[in-house]
Amino acid sequence: MATTSDYGLGPHEYPRGWFMVADASDVSRVPQAVRFFGQDLALYRGESGRVVMLDAYCPHMGTHLAANTTSFVIQDGLQVEGDGIRCPYHAWRFGADGRCNDIPYFKGPIPASARVRSWRVEERYGCVFAWHDMEGGEPDCDLPVLPEWDAGGWVHWKLDKLGTLPCHSQELIDNMADVAHLGPTHGAPCEYFRNEINGVVCRQLQGGKHRSITGGGLLETDTYYTGPGVLLSRFVGLGSIMFITHTPVDDGLVRAWHGLLVQAAHTPPTEQDVAAARMAQDYSRAAFAQDFEIWANKKPALTILQVPTDGPYAKVRAWYKQFYHPRAEAARLQAQANGVFTVRDMPSENARAA
Ligand code: FES
Ligand SMILES: [Fe+2]
Repeated sequence: MATTSDYGLGPHEYPRGWFMVADASDVSRVPQAVRFFGQDLALYRGESGRVVMLDAYCPHMGTHLAANTTSFVIQDGLQVEGDGIRCPYHAWRFGADGRCNDIPYFKGPIPASARVRSWRVEERYGCVFAWHDMEGGEPDCDLPVLPEWDAGGWVHWKLDKLGTLPCHSQELIDNMADVAHLGPTHGAPCEYFRNEINGVVCRQLQGGKHRSITGGGLLETDTYYTGPGVLLSRFVGLGSIMFITHTPVDDGLVRAWHGLLVQAAHTPPTEQDVAAARMAQDYSRAAFAQDFEIWANKKPALTILQVPTDGPYAKVRAWYKQFYHPRAEAARLQAQANGVFTVRDMPSENARAA
């Protein structure tokens, strides 16, 4: 398993950015033990409906706040109170801000160190996203805006949980530059291709005949990462938007989800529209599974044996590095990566549209 330092990405083991940590519909008043960024975490929905994610281990004696089913704190249904959570061991209660605010058997002042970290989370697009920053700073970029989500005439995705891959996220990011795999892997040889990099956004614009998704017709995609972990891909003219998101679990281990937002024939969508959207998502997932199988079984590409008509991997890797460096260095690294990048012997625009 190759790690961040093996790829030479930067001094931070995990990238700075917004990352999906759960399907929002799975987050309830029953706390879950989850693991991301090499850390154990407790995730639950408070009584107000707010999603809370805390570092897992109680500062009293190190108990995992969420990995318990037998303590009477859990059996009596007392664990989540308001937006706070009680530890299964001695029932100290921590607020959504992570501070201990009740020790049932001690009425004196609560020690200031009786606290756990509370993560910044956002519930959007049916997902719970958390802000991760090894420097502990506030978000320096936003989640992507997806106006179609609230537009009414679209069928929301039902997320595919793709599980955890024994590979570093760098291998997933390489796909953005990878013009040459589209034919062999996906049955969709490229007719035009370019990457556009601007700050935290890395975009891929391409088109070609797609064997499965369009049954041999032209499929044009506008695909972009907003930050290191959230990808959207508009299937131009098809009324569908693919969502792929990945989050490091440990260094060199990544968890991924997939969804497809589909424009419906009716507003609000009918049952038939929903069934058609689920089928379209299945096709899209099957296409992504082609990449997934490669990643699950490959050896790390610590360096790429590049030929001149390969895609601009080096630029996309340069873009990715900003997230592994202190934010003070981000602007300098962005300046090194920004630009429009084309592929030798490959048009950069759709010649049919010209
Ligand atoms: S270990 Fe959590 S309350 Fe004692
Ligand atoms: Fe791919």
